Amino acid sequence: MSARLLDGRDLARRLAPALRTRVAALPRPPGLAVVLVGEDPASAVYVERKHERAERLGFHQATIRLPVDTPQGALEALIDELNVDPRIDGVLVQLPLPSQIDAGAVLGRILPEKDVDGFHVVNTGRLSQGLAALVPCTPLGVMRLIADAGLPLAGCDALVVGRSNIVGRPMAMLLEQAHATVTLAHSRTRNLEDHVRRADLVVAAVGRPDHIRGAWIKPGAVVIDVGINRLADGSLVGDVEFGPAAARAGAITPVPGGVGPMTIAMLMENTVTAAERRQGLAR
Ligand code: GUN
Repeated sequence: MSARLLDGRDLARRLAPALRTRVAALPRPPGLAVVLVGEDPASAVYVERKHERAERLGFHQATIRLPVDTPQGALEALIDELNVDPRIDGVLVQLPLPSQIDAGAVLGRILPEKDVDGFHVVNTGRLSQGLAALVPCTPLGVMRLIADAGLPLAGCDALVVGRSNIVGRPMAMLLEQAHATVTLAHSRTRNLEDHVRRADLVVAAVGRPDHIRGAWIKPGAVVIDVGINRLADGSLVGDVEFGPAAARAGAITPVPGGVGPMTIAMLMENTVTAAERRQGLAR
């Protein structure tokens, strides 16, 4: 392997002291509410990690677990309560939601200033216009990893694979705002291989193991793997064929230990930002 490893665990750890300083400067601790509907095992693990991290940073924190058959009205009533709870600065509803729930309506009900996931159309719209917004945690974490490594973006050919509202779309917006030339590829894209071969930066957010072959990576390119896929043997792999990609890339994120820890770190940061704004310490 010749690529430099972009270590998200290490960066998340290095960001913690500055965050603790911001928490200490607040009149009251930042409050984060995490809502989990149902028992999806991967979601349960993510929610537990968010809970632990928030607790370690001294947040006021509530994890609310609801049964899988929770009706739309009950979930919306909970959001309404959290919206007016003065101790709560951030509200996160873990996705995916069960099929009876209209996720868009739930996410749209969270107050934009408490929307620490950055999924509300107000935050998405503000981000799209380059205005101050709560920015989705995973793409924000990717931008931090790239910046921390000192990798230049201006003028580079960036390829984002996957067009979800959680990762791909906001990722493309952030990269464009950093002056990259962005291509947003998706399941209907023809000749994905050709796009990957041209890219100086590849962000893979597809959710399929080995979807991006290592041999396609341009020598020296930066490879950011957002995928977290569990194989039949229990191991976790990303969307990029890691070994061969690392042999060609200039820098690459591991899975696990790359983007994942940064997502949680950015959720904590967004919660502190929301608390600062709500407590009059605007940034
Ligand atoms: N499910 C997968 N990623 C995310 C995320 O960033 N936020 C929420 N709420 N749910 C998710």
